[in-house]
Amino acid sequence: MDSWTLVYNEFEPEQEALREALCTLGNGYFATRGASAQADADGTHYPGTYLAGGYNRLKTEIAGRVIENEDLVNLPNWLVLKFRLDDGPWFAVKDAKILKYRQELRMKEGLLAREIRFRDGQGRVTVLRERRLVHMGSPHLAGLETTVMADNWSGRVEFESGLDGRVINDGVARYRELKSRHLETLETDEIDHDTIFLKVQTNQSELRIAQAARTAVFKNGESLRLDRLLVQEEDYIAQRFTVDLSKGRAVRIEKIVALHTSRDHASSECGLEAGKTVQRCQNFKKLVKSQSHAWRRLWRRFAMTLKTKEKNSDTLTILNLNIFHLLQSTSLHTMDLDVGVPSRGWHGEAYRGHIFWDELFIFPFLNLRVPEITRALLMYRYRRLDEARAAAREEGHRGAMYPWQSGSNGREESQKVHLNPESGRWIRDNSRLQRHVSAAIAYNICQYYQATEDREFLSFYGAEMMFEIARFWSSKASYNESLGRYEIRGVMGPDEYHDSYPNAEEPGLDNSAYTNVMAAWVLTEALKLLDLLSEDRRRELCDTIDLGEDEMDRWKDISLKMYVPFHGNGIISQFSGYDDLKEFDWKGYREKYGDIQRLDRILEAENDTPNRYKASKQADVLMLFYLFSAEELGALFKQLGYPFEYETIPKNIEYYIQRTSHGSTLSRVVHAWVLARSDREQSWDLCRQALRSDYTDIQGGTTPEGIHLGAMAGSINIIQEAYTGIEQRGGVLWFNPCLPRELESLHMVIHYRGHTLEIDVTGE
Ligand code: BGC
Repeated sequence: MDSWTLVYNEFEPEQEALREALCTLGNGYFATRGASAQADADGTHYPGTYLAGGYNRLKTEIAGRVIENEDLVNLPNWLVLKFRLDDGPWFAVKDAKILKYRQELRMKEGLLAREIRFRDGQGRVTVLRERRLVHMGSPHLAGLETTVMADNWSGRVEFESGLDGRVINDGVARYRELKSRHLETLETDEIDHDTIFLKVQTNQSELRIAQAARTAVFKNGESLRLDRLLVQEEDYIAQRFTVDLSKGRAVRIEKIVALHTSRDHASSECGLEAGKTVQRCQNFKKLVKSQSHAWRRLWRRFAMTLKTKEKNSDTLTILNLNIFHLLQSTSLHTMDLDVGVPSRGWHGEAYRGHIFWDELFIFPFLNLRVPEITRALLMYRYRRLDEARAAAREEGHRGAMYPWQSGSNGREESQKVHLNPESGRWIRDNSRLQRHVSAAIAYNICQYYQATEDREFLSFYGAEMMFEIARFWSSKASYNESLGRYEIRGVMGPDEYHDSYPNAEEPGLDNSAYTNVMAAWVLTEALKLLDLLSEDRRRELCDTIDLGEDEMDRWKDISLKMYVPFHGNGIISQFSGYDDLKEFDWKGYREKYGDIQRLDRILEAENDTPNRYKASKQADVLMLFYLFSAEELGALFKQLGYPFEYETIPKNIEYYIQRTSHGSTLSRVVHAWVLARSDREQSWDLCRQALRSDYTDIQGGTTPEGIHLGAMAGSINIIQEAYTGIEQRGGVLWFNPCLPRELESLHMVIHYRGHTLEIDVTGE
């Protein structure tokens, strides 16, 4: 492995699903898992192609009620390129006697390559070589080049090049009791001698997707015009053809595919466009060249280099892998789309392609590279502001209450029940009570502005979202006479292990410290923002959303008097009553279960609940130290009339780190960050783990269902911002570098408010 290539030298069926996710190719418009082109979904392989923002809703009756889920739809499989020797069985990698195997993800050029040398039952040795791409420069294009070489035999090879619309959403075992057929076929056709066509439509959202595939055949460098047999089955179309091969000779097949949808811009009808794109397209070799140029341009903006003192370090490779997948999920093409950034990439079906608060971990890296992408992703939120207003109204509140999980139109898409695979039970899912997602959006707006000083965005879109979010917090907060302070009741903080008080009938917790502090911060920033707007725009906006002085006075009051629970010696309580919970037997459970990252599932299966214990899934209170510098937080606590001492941060870190299972991949990112100065060794250790979350499938089975973009981008940003001590505050870019001892040096180019900065940091 070099720093630009991920290499696998063996075929390991049980690793295949993970590799498919890690070898996914995409361009921000669509993505295709790195599945074998010779396989259908069969338990080992799972071909999946997903459109950014390609959702569909289906209803299922489950656990006695009808629930509706919005899924990221698995689109027709364009990879299909099967072959067989003479009349033998179709080649399947898992059945072959493999003599040599090599799979390479070439991140610099955006290519996936595979070489398999195998022997069949009749002693024939064959070499299969493949290269594929999903084009970063031309977002509608993908290509697959397949070469079959007869090593010790002569005979006939039959190929089938197809477009398979029979696919369903079957990538996540936990969802298998739910309805999964999202597509109906509208049309299959042979456009010309070389080109087949498939058009489908999602059965609820009526999104049309057209794929056209042009297949060309070459032998000895010459193009072959062969007779092709059209295979037209229900939801499937393919061409079959045979090629005679003599010993030592090879045949090369180029399959170039165009994918268009009814949502594209500059489009007449998606079928027409797909046919046109594929017919106009150049050959595979030229596509490879333009692909590598497109990636070269991207890497110039996004790459980082670092030197570690580790022997045979793969850290830079993993860093590149994470940047690679981030850019395949949200690329320059995102700027022209109405999509958010999905927590699991467009790489699989986990969390259904939904958008969570994970943006908070993803945007900072983008902000200092290509903030225009962040702007587009914030516009995804702006377009759903009305839906957030409606959600707040439905709960009896004012302002904008953004959903915990967001998909097509910004409706709350969190599940109402979820399956615990440990117990087989369907459990009520209260995660939607994580109202802090709205604060994250406000934070993201402010960070984007800090990085860009984009007043137009702020004035036309950002401010309106900020004010409506502030308004929501103001309406959600209530004054508690006995405390003499405002409180927020009935919510959940980021730690998903706590969704209610032990034995309580109704879910929800009071005074999540993280939520309350974020709410106070939003109100403070919203008031400051009023002064940033021009007089005209301020008047106009206040008029539009009917924002008056009385309301602003209340914002001010809450921003001074929000309640923050404490217990013991300066420890910020995760929520009111946290201190009454029992200590958890970490040692005993580790001994009994080994991996206890998903303690919630383990306890539920034992008819218990983490709600009874001081045990967190992920960083919660510590999020405050992740998002704000000590100076900022000190000022905020002072404003609220609470002590914030030098010791507050280390004390709270020490308290909570012992009580966290890291059941979310986001958790290590936060812990690595907050320890960056006080414990450089542990910070680097956690950063290394966070960087490798997907590469090593740290949760033991979740990465095959989709990468964890928050952990990928968050861990990159530990290097970009935590170890360099970059902070954007008050229109100033601050640096306070402090590299972990294992990091020798770091080089990167960032952009800040129109300036380009080339940065070199060394341990000295
Ligand atoms: C975490 C959330 C996160 C979500 C999506 C959950 O496991 O607890 O904080 O937003 O995954 O990544």
